[in-house]
Amino acid sequence: MTGTSLVGTDVELTVGPVAHGGHCVGRSEGRVVFVRHALPGEQVRAVVTEGGTASRYLRADAVAVVSAAPDRVPQRCPVAGPGGCGGCDWQHVSVEGQRALKAEVVAEQLRRLAGVERAVQVEAVPGDAAGLGWRTRLRLAVDREGRAGLRRHRSHQVVHLADCPLSHPAVEVGSLLARRWPGAGSLAVAVSVATGDRVVLVDGVAQGRSRLAEHAAGRSWRVTGDGFWQVHPGAADALVDAVRAQLRPRPGEQLVDLYAGVGLFAGALADDLGPAGGVDAVEAAAGAVRDARRNLHDRPGVRLHEARVDRWLRGGTVPRADVVVLDPPRIGAGAEVVRRIVGLGPRAVAYVACDPAALARDVGTFRGLGWELTALRALDTFPLTHHVECVALLQRGTGGEIS
Ligand SMILES: C[S@@+](CC[C@H](N)C(=O)[O-])C[C@H]1O[C@@H](n2cnc3c(N)ncnc32)[C@H](O)[C@@H]1O
Repeated sequence: MTGTSLVGTDVELTVGPVAHGGHCVGRSEGRVVFVRHALPGEQVRAVVTEGGTASRYLRADAVAVVSAAPDRVPQRCPVAGPGGCGGCDWQHVSVEGQRALKAEVVAEQLRRLAGVERAVQVEAVPGDAAGLGWRTRLRLAVDREGRAGLRRHRSHQVVHLADCPLSHPAVEVGSLLARRWPGAGSLAVAVSVATGDRVVLVDGVAQGRSRLAEHAAGRSWRVTGDGFWQVHPGAADALVDAVRAQLRPRPGEQLVDLYAGVGLFAGALADDLGPAGGVDAVEAAAGAVRDARRNLHDRPGVRLHEARVDRWLRGGTVPRADVVVLDPPRIGAGAEVVRRIVGLGPRAVAYVACDPAALARDVGTFRGLGWELTALRALDTFPLTHHVECVALLQRGTGGEIS
């Protein structure tokens, strides 16, 4: 029920705290307004973009700033901002300011969904230029005229642009945007900063080169098509370092790597386990498992399982697990997977999360089973967007450091 639409009408707001999803919370006539392109403490005039007289809340875009917050900066892209491209949420905020906002969001999600009180700091990751030039993987939409662009926020409408300042220069996004792509629906481009390899897919079909050689954790990794690999050039190394520091895998231990992709954590941590240790790596996408098989052929202690994680865990044939890496997609692992991991009795779980709400829900499930969040890193692997990557250490109710 929305009642009479309020879309297009103006509201004057004092902007309140940041909320998950790239907006802040304000109030207008007693109703919550999720307002984009604003900052906490600002006084803004915003235009309603969704909702009506009977809606519980409205969405709005700040179009005029009456009093600006100290962290406000001029946006660095002509199509960012109200009514523009949905790719960036925090173009109007200093790099440090947007990290502080993300830290607040992670802390708030943990408090609200997991009952955990924790101060959070979002750390910079090497490999971007003050928040720009980091995106090595990009999806473009193509409109009916064959022109490529990026989607408007919460819309199918294609926004046209000449360049994207978040893209890594090796993506050469300008050349993709300048061309016409008649009959195409979408483009995907991926580049390896280490090797210069570049893959362009039109509606999922590679144009020329179909795979990349990436480099991370001192090894080379094959990634086919638009198979999963971290987008920020510094992310894979930073995440491996964070997971290793939290788990401290020991020689002889068994690691279970869930949602293993092309084998990043399995391959990087296998050496820590030595010849007496082993890894079970579980991944559902057949293409990723093929890449992982190729990537890890020199690691005989790694066993690859092409399976859905929930089914594999339910299958009952899971071997010993001393330590677990859990790196699910955005929706998180879910209660059943968490319960089964706890049932394996590992000494520690490192949870790599690209969505703080999903992380917090799963941490809540761990806590309900007597486990605790004992360490947390938050890494700014998606600058100027609302996304943030967390690495959380979970241990059975010790409340202390890893034993
Ligand atoms: C966030 S990525 C992590 C990949 C890898 N750990 C890395 O860091 O490169 C999540 C992976 O989970 C896989 N996946 C998604 N749902 C799955 C499921 N139910 N069971 C197993 N794998 C799944 C995806 O194909 C993807 O490779």
